[in-house]
Amino acid sequence: MSIEARYVELHPGSRALYQRAAAVLPSGVTHDSRYLRPFPIYAERAEGPYKWDVDGHRYIDYVVGHGALLLGHHHPAVTAAAAAQLTRGTHYGASHEHEIAWAEEVVRLVPAAEVVRFTSSGTEATLMALRLARAATGRPAVIKFERHFHGWHDYVVPASSYAGRVPPGIPAATLDSVLVLPPNLEAVEAAFAERTDIGAVIVEAAGASSGQLPLPRGFLQGLRDISARHGAVFIMDEVVTGFRWAPGGVHELEGVRPDLVTLAKVLAGGFPGGAVAGRRDILEYLQFPGGGPRTEKVGHPGTFNANPLSAAAGVACLREIADGTHQQRAAALAAALREGMNRILTDLAIPGIVYGQSSAFRVHLVGDAPPGPRDSDGRDLAHTLLETPMPPELARLLQLALLNRGVQLFGTGGMLSSAHTDDDIAATLDAWQAALIELREEGCIPPA
Ligand SMILES: Cc1ncc(COP(=O)(O)O)c(C=O)c1O
Repeated sequence: MSIEARYVELHPGSRALYQRAAAVLPSGVTHDSRYLRPFPIYAERAEGPYKWDVDGHRYIDYVVGHGALLLGHHHPAVTAAAAAQLTRGTHYGASHEHEIAWAEEVVRLVPAAEVVRFTSSGTEATLMALRLARAATGRPAVIKFERHFHGWHDYVVPASSYAGRVPPGIPAATLDSVLVLPPNLEAVEAAFAERTDIGAVIVEAAGASSGQLPLPRGFLQGLRDISARHGAVFIMDEVVTGFRWAPGGVHELEGVRPDLVTLAKVLAGGFPGGAVAGRRDILEYLQFPGGGPRTEKVGHPGTFNANPLSAAAGVACLREIADGTHQQRAAALAAALREGMNRILTDLAIPGIVYGQSSAFRVHLVGDAPPGPRDSDGRDLAHTLLETPMPPELARLLQLALLNRGVQLFGTGGMLSSAHTDDDIAATLDAWQAALIELREEGCIPPA
């Protein structure tokens, strides 16, 4: 039986729900990355590193709430804080103490955070960061990098991981204010030499798509220096990496000081939430009554900003992850997983690599193997990875083959939580080996 036929046979409940969904939701999904042919699995409950689908299958979960669940599903401390808040109200429409405690935790943990403004998502955080940068500099243009993902608002869609340079639905004037550059410092210098209207540089802290294409060494510090020299605001997007790579994110690890940092995901412990944090003089453009020297106050409403439920969960989560133990555990498990997956690729003589930083991993299978060390963080491979992308059909069938064996990837990789165990790694490696052999039998991977 083919991989896909087996998937259909194993998941009748998910299939039925997908048919229902397709009538009322475009493509049946609510997030582009959840789209999967012939249909995605439908989850029913989750705990620790696992989720269960409507057909009763258990999965080792490497989506972990799109990276939000560093502690795994409903960690007791986070659940207790949220449950206690639930009985006291989910929306006061008023200021409350949790939002102050939440901001205090951010300022305590994140080196660049002098002050904080909460939003409801990472997308809103990058939107606000760009608006603040434009207000503070009086310059409308922004630099972003090829394939870097910062959410889905108009200014960051061009050349993001899921869209081309001219995505539909975005006005030309908006696109004109966004310069998309390759991640090299010469290109950035050249852009500043050519234009005087660049007010911000935004970069994904771990490289495009949560580290799928890692940045060259020294790139972040180089951007920091060039931005400062030209009076532009340097924004590090740490929506994924913040609190996960280290309690203070990549900029703590690398000792680079951005002007603004954007946060979400782990920030709110699995609830909706985001934040822009950074230099007081820039965030003061949000301040009443007048804003900064160059403009009126920057406006910022938002019904669910720092809502009590997200704030309570966020405080509990940030206190739990503050000493770095959870990050270290998740990263050590991810390193063991990457190493084991690479060992199996070698044993089966399959060209490809599993790489990644911190608690993330990324699978890259191609016809001809990129050279380089097996357990690389991927920095040395960025060019090769770009030149020889993984065939989409192979990526799809790999996901199905692993789902058939109780493992859910996030796209072609995933992230770990501190709730994952050594047994989960061993079980994943067994599933990986069996899936690769099956893919080879289906002719998607060349014979040994
Ligand atoms: C680096 C980065 N920035 C911004 C976002 C957008 O965050 P959200 O999905 O909360 O809007 C994401 C989401 O995955 C992200 O990975």
